[in-house]
Amino acid sequence: VELGALNTLHVPALASFYVEVESASELATALDWAASGQHEPLILGGGSNLVFARDFQGLVIRMAIRARRWERVVDHRATLVLGAGENWHEAVLYAARAGYRGIENLALIPGTAGAAPVQNIGAYGVELCDCLESVRALDRITGELVILDNAECRFAYRDSLFKHNPGRFVITEIRLGLSRNKPLTLGYRDLQEYLGDTPESELTPLEVAEAVMAIRRRKLPDPAIIPNAGSFFKNPVVVTAQFEALRTRHPDIVGYPQEHGVKLAAAWLIDQCGWKGFRNARVGVHNRQALVLINHSGGSGSDILALAEEIRESVEKRFGVVLEMEPGIVAGPESP
Ligand code: EPU
Repeated sequence: VELGALNTLHVPALASFYVEVESASELATALDWAASGQHEPLILGGGSNLVFARDFQGLVIRMAIRARRWERVVDHRATLVLGAGENWHEAVLYAARAGYRGIENLALIPGTAGAAPVQNIGAYGVELCDCLESVRALDRITGELVILDNAECRFAYRDSLFKHNPGRFVITEIRLGLSRNKPLTLGYRDLQEYLGDTPESELTPLEVAEAVMAIRRRKLPDPAIIPNAGSFFKNPVVVTAQFEALRTRHPDIVGYPQEHGVKLAAAWLIDQCGWKGFRNARVGVHNRQALVLINHSGGSGSDILALAEEIRESVEKRFGVVLEMEPGIVAGPESP
């Protein structure tokens, strides 16, 4: 099966085997089949946060578990349950239209509900972990379906338990705790600029979602039109002393103080190295957001990764800061 249409970077890659699963039991069957034939499994959601470096000699399992329902509706609170295969952005609009708050700032993030906890998606001052109650997952070590609560997921910026134990847990369902009256999160600069002086009390979560959509459409390329995988690097956190040293030499450097150290804007570092709008014959860097790599015309995963490496080297050379890639790199077992 050709995977080009199943990853938002549109890099070509072949999978030896492919199956779509619509329930936890179909998932278990697919994993058993893979194990019995010694085929490496790969779980695929929306394909919006991974790079196929080469063909995949294994079983690609596309998560198509659908479910969307409300549970524990009490006073102003409710739990939104989403099957892993639900489209994330559709779920955001569904919650916002119902008047529930919590995920409206995460509008237009590509991908599925089941993939959202893996990288703890975040944007405009909100992270998934702020409202995620629990996930249901198949533990491939025990073969059991388990429930992991928020603390057990070990969330951090663009990080979770699932990134540290790749392949162990396959998320089948997520639960989000939403509320009709909790405060909206409007502090992120772009959002403030867009909304102007509109008082919080006059805004609905749907209006905030629409504002986020407009901001994203201005800055970020739509993967359906321009193939990309969102931010290609994490914003690096450096110790305060290093930040101060950098600021002496680069007074405009963009940094956000954290509990420990300062988070730098990777986009700013890359931009300063002159990459914004760069393109070679096949791949390049978005001209409005230097963090986003683009597959302009028929680029392969290795074209993307080679460009990422060049960017990483130039940023390290100029600023002494090592960027970490955000998407997962699917290398798979070497071809025989
Ligand atoms: N900037 C530049 N050059 C650019 C783009 C940005 O100098 O080409 C500077 C801006 O001036 C700004 C700073 O960098 O001061 C930060 O830019 P922005 O607000 O666009 O956010 P970001 O830190 O680059 C992060 C997330 C995005 C998310 C936005 C909004 C990461 C890796 N990326 O980007 O997430 O949408 O904040 O919250 O944390 C994604 O992960 O795929 C993604 C798009």
